[in-house]
Amino acid sequence: MKITYYGHACWGVEIGGKNLLFDPFISPNPLAKHIDIASVKADYILITHGHEDHVADALFIAQKTGATIVSNFEIVNWFMKQGHEKIHPMNIGGKWKFDFGSVTYFSATHSSSMPDGSYGGNPGSFIIESSEGNFYHAGDTGLMSDMKLIPLITKLDFAMLPIGDNFTMDTHQAVLASDFIQCDEILAMHFDTFGYIVVNKEVAVETFKKVGKKLHFVEIGQTINR
Ligand code: NI
Ligand code: MN
Repeated sequence: MKITYYGHACWGVEIGGKNLLFDPFISPNPLAKHIDIASVKADYILITHGHEDHVADALFIAQKTGATIVSNFEIVNWFMKQGHEKIHPMNIGGKWKFDFGSVTYFSATHSSSMPDGSYGGNPGSFIIESSEGNFYHAGDTGLMSDMKLIPLITKLDFAMLPIGDNFTMDTHQAVLASDFIQCDEILAMHFDTFGYIVVNKEVAVETFKKVGKKLHFVEIGQTINR
């Protein structure tokens, strides 16, 4: 599995030759100016919720790559109305087997509306299970007890958790979330993009280290292998 960070909550994950892209928000992100969105690969674009900072480049990349947009019913319908027909609708708790593995659209405690203000359904998150490993993209969320259900569903190898505070969990709550999901390898997301969510990375890493867990800050544009 190859994991590339594109900033904010946007990750590219390659599993068995298929490219998954989560929450594309690259071109409006000043921290991701060096990323050329025309070169971002995607067979599937997975969208946790409708906010601009999770969907901004989705239509462009979907149309350029011919990717299937995977999200809740309301969000994929919104993209259909924008002219992208390749969609896969899901809703909270549902699971589907794709050609790279299975996707469960799981809950998140947040809000969701589309950039034009239309209804975006309930916000969600994704649990991905594949022969190359299992992981959780938490989307935007506060700490929630639903996370305790995840170990009953699958054994995670790693998880992307928001740590920026203000709109989502902070680092301390992300440590509690990592206990809930029984996962010790955490990739940090949803920090530094805006003034409201600037974090001290050293303190964040230390907070996880104190409890014997690892918080990774992947550079924007960097690819790691797992
Ligand atoms: Ni949001
Ligand atoms: Mn967000």
